[in-house]
Amino acid sequence: MRLYIDSANLEQIAYLNDYFPIAGVTTNPSIIVKEKKPYMELLKEIRGIIGEEKELFVQLIGDTAEEMMAEAQYINRAIAGKVVVKIPVTTEGIKAIKLISAYKIPVLATTIYTSMQALTASMAGADYVAPYVNRIDNLTGNGIKVVQEISELFSAYNCKTKILAASFKNVQQVHDVCLAGAHSVTVSAELMGKLIDFPSTNADVAAFKKQWQGYYGMDKQSLN
Ligand code: G3P
Repeated sequence: MRLYIDSANLEQIAYLNDYFPIAGVTTNPSIIVKEKKPYMELLKEIRGIIGEEKELFVQLIGDTAEEMMAEAQYINRAIAGKVVVKIPVTTEGIKAIKLISAYKIPVLATTIYTSMQALTASMAGADYVAPYVNRIDNLTGNGIKVVQEISELFSAYNCKTKILAASFKNVQQVHDVCLAGAHSVTVSAELMGKLIDFPSTNADVAAFKKQWQGYYGMDKQSLN
């Protein structure tokens, strides 16, 4: 399982990259514009925080496959380290996935709502597919079931494409896609903390500390 930060906020990324087992950062146009900065400058700053080994996902915004190809080449040249371009699964997007993956630039197929979109993107050469779990749920679909179907199809056809599940609003959705066969998830900064937050753990730690202090009279181990 690989865990990604779904944010372009530099403070959040620096904090989470320091504390959590992060594999990289995913962005999309909405996430980027929230930061109100020139986007290339922002992407380079994110790269500066996470280093060159962790993946940085950048969404293409061109309308045609050829425009997306030109964008992918530009982004790949301009940003150092491991960059993955995100391409929406439209008809032009599928063509772009074929062109760009043949050019050996890693590709994530995004805005996925159905398992057939994922399978088609995989056949086109996508390295990752990103099913939008919460957005599927909001359409009275079943985001977890879509992830499970993608997982089954990828196993049945020996697809190398990885499932990077996205769009979560709660920990239960993240938990369920992990069980449903997702290889990785991308979550917001708010949700990342909640993955491990449990009141009993903090209460237990406080009780251990109190007992330790009560007997030894100090709140740290003596390291001498
Ligand atoms: O990575 C895709 C994701 O950002 C979409 O999430 O919460 O806007 O549905 P959301």
